[in-house]
Amino acid sequence: MQLRFQDSTVRRVIIDYSLGLMLGDNMGDDDELFTITEANLDSGLRGVPVGTCRTSFVDPIEGVHYVGYPVGDLANLEEEDVIYLLLNKRLPTEEESATFRAELAHRAEEMPTGALRVLESLTPGSGHPMDWLAIGIMALGAADSTGDTRSDSMNLIARMPELMARLFLLRGGKPEDLRPRKPELGLVENFVHMLGVEGEEAERMERVLRFFFILHMDHGGGNLSTFSGKAVASGRASVYASIASAMNALSGPLHGRANQACLEFVQRIGTSDPVEIEDFVRSELAAKRPIYGFGHGVLRAEDPRASLLIELGSEICPEDENYKIVTALREVVPPILKEIPKISNPYPNVDIASGSLLHSVGFRKPDYYTTFFGWARVAGICAQILDERSARDGRGTPIYRPKYIPREQPHQRLK
Ligand code: MLT
Repeated sequence: MQLRFQDSTVRRVIIDYSLGLMLGDNMGDDDELFTITEANLDSGLRGVPVGTCRTSFVDPIEGVHYVGYPVGDLANLEEEDVIYLLLNKRLPTEEESATFRAELAHRAEEMPTGALRVLESLTPGSGHPMDWLAIGIMALGAADSTGDTRSDSMNLIARMPELMARLFLLRGGKPEDLRPRKPELGLVENFVHMLGVEGEEAERMERVLRFFFILHMDHGGGNLSTFSGKAVASGRASVYASIASAMNALSGPLHGRANQACLEFVQRIGTSDPVEIEDFVRSELAAKRPIYGFGHGVLRAEDPRASLLIELGSEICPEDENYKIVTALREVVPPILKEIPKISNPYPNVDIASGSLLHSVGFRKPDYYTTFFGWARVAGICAQILDERSARDGRGTPIYRPKYIPREQPHQRLK
């Protein structure tokens, strides 16, 4: 299939994935890829190629692929194996998988106490959970940065489950519920165990979280959190500082925090009756309010991650009220959005169903949902930072320095 940057004002770039051709295979250093026109300025770099990515790419129709695999092929694997794939660009053998899991478990056996004290000093309920996540990551770095990109990445990936569990319980004012860590259980399983959830409830929670985790790990190189993390890392800042910056980027409502807004939107609708939903959506549009869970900067069809989550929901929570609203929205909204010519993608994105599934397995507070997104993306961003550090025959990607063109700045002098 051919991917085209469909901006009529620019020269087209064609990368043919079906033939396995990637940039570099058939292009010389001086081949022109893209022509910048004035329309590209002040557009958030939308669609402008700025680098290469080895972990994943996003096909506008078929969605995200990790190292060539459509994410749906990987969604039921162990989460550690998918992290291994992003880091090593191939799936592990059974033995490699066991060694990798053991390494992660070993690295999670201890948490720097200084970092924990920082979280304990925050007031329960204060700020947004994403603030706590960025603070927690910075605190881990302040206490325990080694300066080695791989070690720091692996330590952070390994310790995220405990950071997440502590964040949930400390911010929620229930620190006494925290169970002692059991990293040998696996990343998601250790988190669920530390929250004190057991039995069938824990199994359902793990199933949804593992699936969510894998679907959210990576989304090409240009999404805002990944790009921000890599930009900070390009100045040779630590992995912790880079990932905390990425989490802050993710916290915006136009990026990761949309999954929180989407469940709140679903709850506000409060009915799965298609006629009432249509009235609701039309009145939101008339009031110029956003319709959450639809559209995407790159995708031009239903996000396969949305389809996969909706499919999982049909097994996990078919009778859940929020889930029923989500499936009704999926049918009702696209034809309405198609009536608006400037909307290039009227289809559901990953946020449409993730919140209702998390809610149905016991995570009742939507403001925590973006922390799951952030936790998942730590692996993808670390993998991309590692790739950028070893790019150009080990010299690494230089410090990011795009050019801004002066506007309304005539030369002036103080008299
Ligand atoms: C996503 O997962 O959909 C993103 O991070 C948003 C994007 O790709 O720009």
